[in-house]
Amino acid sequence: MTMQNRLDEIRDGLLQKLKEATDKQHVEQLRTAILGRKGELTGILRTMGSLKPEERPAFGQKINQLRNELEQALDSAARTLEEKEKAARLKAETLDISIPGTRPELGAEHPLISTMNAIVDTFVSMGYSVAEGPEIELDHYNFELLNLPKDHPARDAQDTLYFSPNILLRTHTSPVQARTMLSQKPPIRIVCPGRTYRADEVDATHSPAFSQCEGLVIDEGVTMADLKGALASFATAMFGEDVKVRFRPSFFPFTEPSAEVDVTCSACKGKGCPKCKGTGWIEVLGAGMVNPKVLDMCGIDSKKYTGFAFGIGIERVAVLKYNIPDMRLLFENDARFLQQFGKGR
Ligand code: DAH
Repeated sequence: MTMQNRLDEIRDGLLQKLKEATDKQHVEQLRTAILGRKGELTGILRTMGSLKPEERPAFGQKINQLRNELEQALDSAARTLEEKEKAARLKAETLDISIPGTRPELGAEHPLISTMNAIVDTFVSMGYSVAEGPEIELDHYNFELLNLPKDHPARDAQDTLYFSPNILLRTHTSPVQARTMLSQKPPIRIVCPGRTYRADEVDATHSPAFSQCEGLVIDEGVTMADLKGALASFATAMFGEDVKVRFRPSFFPFTEPSAEVDVTCSACKGKGCPKCKGTGWIEVLGAGMVNPKVLDMCGIDSKKYTGFAFGIGIERVAVLKYNIPDMRLLFENDARFLQQFGKGR
């Protein structure tokens, strides 16, 4: 076989194999087999030494030409295959955006929080602002400034959890009243929502951690009629137009006169049922005219100003508003209970 034939054979063989190659790796194997250090064409180039000196340039040129030609063919085959592989990969990775997705489960506002927000919104719409205070409170604000000195028997009713003789978990949101009076001048019109704590046993209507929303209004000429008006607006906003509100005379050291305020039971509409212990009424808050002693202790001139205050039990309102049979459901975090409040959100 002549040298030319041999070279033609190498070229034709390679071009044929490149046509059949299915991946880039195969192309690289062919490259090594022909152009590599031990490749066929490299082998032929090495035989140049056995040629006559005058034959060498033409021979070398021919081999180099072929080498360039084959290199181009190999590169182009490699590129084509690479593109094909990429196209196949992209095709395999295609997302079908018409497949329905997995919906993340949405949380919902806890009924206690919605009740708290609804209460706060009602008073904010009447011009009140929101004030807050610490849950770990000083005896001074929780009791002393509210006319409950150390030996006062009314302290017993509050089942206080103490950290030390002067530091406690606030038993009501009323200390925020005292803090506000000490830091603001009248007119004052605030609501203070928050957590409160007492050493109570857990049952259907009690929990050691509960929530209240305090209210305080102080200005010149504020009367008990203003208190009744504010609470009547609150009750209708919360429970609807047909709810009835009743004031019962009561005692709190920080108000004089004081009242306990009931609304008609939502379960029996006032007829009497186990939820309202047969009375038709459920107590939702305590209220009264701020005791002038408290005003004076908190730096407000009781000769010039009067005020009213109230403390709403948020769990009580939530239980009524949503007709929940047992307050414990609000704290147990049973998803089956809570999901009922997430519908349509
Ligand atoms: N702090 C009282 C309690 O927790 C509730 C209360 C009664 C708050 C009368 C008031 C008030 O502001 O005027 O039992």
